[in-house]
Amino acid sequence: MKICVVGLGYIGLPTALLFANSQNIVLGVDTNTRIVDTLNKGELPFDEPSLLELFQNAKNNFTASSSVESSDVYVIAVPTPLENGMKLADLNAVKNASESIAKVIKEGQLVILESTVPPGTSENIVIPILRKNMNKYFYYAHCPERAIPGKTLHEMVCNDRIIGGLDVKSAKKTKQLYSSFVKGNIYITNTKTAEFVKLMENTFRDINIALANEFSLMAEELGIDVWKAIEIANKHPRVDILKPGPGVGGHCLAVDPLFLAEKSSRSRIVTLAREINDSMPGYVVKLVKDMLKDIEHPTITLLGLAYKGNVDDTRESPSFKIKKIAESEGMTVKLYDPFIRDFPGNHQTIHDAVKDTDCIVLVTDHEVFKDIEPKSLQVRNKNLIDTRNILNHHVWRDAGYHVKILGVGLI
Ligand SMILES: NC(=O)c1ccc[n+]([C@@H]2O[C@H](COP(=O)([O-])OP(=O)(O)OC[C@H]3O[C@@H](n4cnc5c(N)ncnc54)[C@H](O)[C@@H]3O)[C@@H](O)[C@H]2O)c1
Repeated sequence: MKICVVGLGYIGLPTALLFANSQNIVLGVDTNTRIVDTLNKGELPFDEPSLLELFQNAKNNFTASSSVESSDVYVIAVPTPLENGMKLADLNAVKNASESIAKVIKEGQLVILESTVPPGTSENIVIPILRKNMNKYFYYAHCPERAIPGKTLHEMVCNDRIIGGLDVKSAKKTKQLYSSFVKGNIYITNTKTAEFVKLMENTFRDINIALANEFSLMAEELGIDVWKAIEIANKHPRVDILKPGPGVGGHCLAVDPLFLAEKSSRSRIVTLAREINDSMPGYVVKLVKDMLKDIEHPTITLLGLAYKGNVDDTRESPSFKIKKIAESEGMTVKLYDPFIRDFPGNHQTIHDAVKDTDCIVLVTDHEVFKDIEPKSLQVRNKNLIDTRNILNHHVWRDAGYHVKILGVGLI
């Protein structure tokens, strides 16, 4: 098979390389020439466990390019963010990718949309664009991606997948293609249901986190440790409460529920959960203000810019919202994330980042933060807020720190 993967980001590149490692000839296409050049030089544009090995194995079967070519299969894996400042899906990249495929598609070829989209996008936007120049039959399926950064390859291979076919023939053809590397079960449905299922999954998690966040606020008010309470509640065989935290980031959970809300007038709990999770960065700044109420124009240090632990993905990260709100309150904000290269204002060492700080705020649950030795840090005032409850608080208290843990009320 000749497969053209359009969009070589966190999802498209690993997908392209898995296909190339399954004896297909793969052309990876990206409008970002830096990504194309990097790949054609034999380097990766981002880190992901086992990706380099897969890339090196795929060398003879994979090339990167800036333009789409006629192929047996096209896979669209372009971004679907929110429109600037709006709670609506920005489908421009999906439309542009579909237009570029429409120029070269031939009868009997297969188009697969992997990008996450609002229900009805395949039917109302992608398929009509593909049909514009070509009235003959082509196969089409929506095959949403479920993998997470940090475990992308493992999950792409081992997770179960859904395929929403335009018709039975399209679904079967797509299933056969993915079976070349997917070890999980593959379930077949129609395009709109597949689009909806993907959004339901992320919305379920977003609502569960909102509930955990609401529990954490209640626990603070009532003098309870929410982390211990959740641990005990989760001993119930049918209860699985996720963790509270400083807000929800990433390109999925913070965005996808809004794709549902956009398309349905029935969204209530979905929208409310988004509001609760979006309010958490502001709540973290309130905790900082309470702790530093006697210090004028304090300096604080945020540990972590990534939206989740042990990865370098900063998209929709609560750290940026905390920074913005804290600065608007007159605080100076210093940043430290060892996973992020070249981010403006990101300090190279923890020691530079905490110099003259009045409060350290742990935002991201990177494992390496557990190794910080508080006694070695030269701060101005010894205050710590742990929004993820990952640090050894005894060690920090022994070093003289005043410690506040999100979700732990005064007992
Ligand atoms: N990253 C994840 O963990 C994850 C998980 C599940 C689903 N998704 C979904 O997968 C889709 C892709 O996400 P991602 O994280 O890989 O995005 P990304 O931003 O990492 O990569 C997308 C790539 O597409 C390129 N691009 C944009 N428009 C293009 C066009 N018209 N033609 C060719 N290339 C184009 C961009 O330059 C970029 O390199 C999104 O819909 C996302 O919601 C992502």
